Amino acid sequence: MAEGCTEPHIGHGKIILFGEHAVVHGCPALAMALPRGASARASVATEDRLHLMPFDTHVRLSGDAQPKNAAGDGSAEQPGPSEHGAKLRAALADALAETPRDRPKLAIEAELHVPAGAGLGASAALSVAVIRAIDAALGRARSDPDMVAASLRWERAFHGNPSGVDSAMATHGGVALYRKGEPLAQVPVVTPPPLIVAYSGHAPSTKAMVDSVARQLERDPERIRGTFEGIEAIVNNGRTALELGDFRRLGQLMTLNQQLLNTLLLSTTQLEVLCRAAMDAGALGAKLTGGGGGGCMIAVCEDWDAAERVRARLSEFDPDAFVVGAGATP
Ligand code: MEV
Repeated sequence: MAEGCTEPHIGHGKIILFGEHAVVHGCPALAMALPRGASARASVATEDRLHLMPFDTHVRLSGDAQPKNAAGDGSAEQPGPSEHGAKLRAALADALAETPRDRPKLAIEAELHVPAGAGLGASAALSVAVIRAIDAALGRARSDPDMVAASLRWERAFHGNPSGVDSAMATHGGVALYRKGEPLAQVPVVTPPPLIVAYSGHAPSTKAMVDSVARQLERDPERIRGTFEGIEAIVNNGRTALELGDFRRLGQLMTLNQQLLNTLLLSTTQLEVLCRAAMDAGALGAKLTGGGGGGCMIAVCEDWDAAERVRARLSEFDPDAFVVGAGATP
């Protein structure tokens, strides 16, 4: 039995630079991991339970657990906290179901370091941190593909039809190109882009936004496929711009991607306000990141001083707006 009280186990959060939503339908996406999305520790206990901070959510697998609160990425019906708690409990039960029957019970202490429901991959990060903590407490090892698969099962409790990009990034970290069904392709980034992340103040339902795009695709396949093709071209050009450290080009592509996401009805007034404010403060480009309908926006700047100025401007809307580059921790 491994010790429970060592360094916590980590799952990465992520920022999608380009390609959200189109990635659900087979296009690539370019994503950058946030070093710490969630962390967790597990230790031997008298019952299986999970305590999640900063929500102070308690989920127990025995007895009639009444979660006080919970984190996931929202859901279409804007459920109350107990519904999130029920999903969290189902996800945890699923993660523990594959462990040996004669194992000891586990108490898991977990913490999110990115806001839930904001498009930063909180639930995938949580799944990876928790599963890593469980594995460590039971002295088990698993391969990265197995971890991605386990995280995806957890994600399905919250999202319905995830592309898998969040789980892949939560497991591997780094900067990478992801396409459904293919191994993650790490992208070498010599000069990290000065990025700013700001939250629009509303945690939408990723599932609802993914379902909305799926309905649009069903109604008007030619137009929506055309939009996806445009996004795919942006992803490929974005990868080159990132590798070359061409932040001006990166910014132009972000703004283009935002326009296409807007045609998919994924932006909101507040996201547009944040993008405008970032541009007015000197950003080279800005877009929503993740599921949209709220959540976070990202902006890129020429250098770190400019990024700090943009962050300061955005902090008028979101006091927790932060600057992030490859390798930086929010
Ligand atoms: C969510 O972070 C990104 C989406 O593309 C959904 C997914 O890929 O599962 C909106």
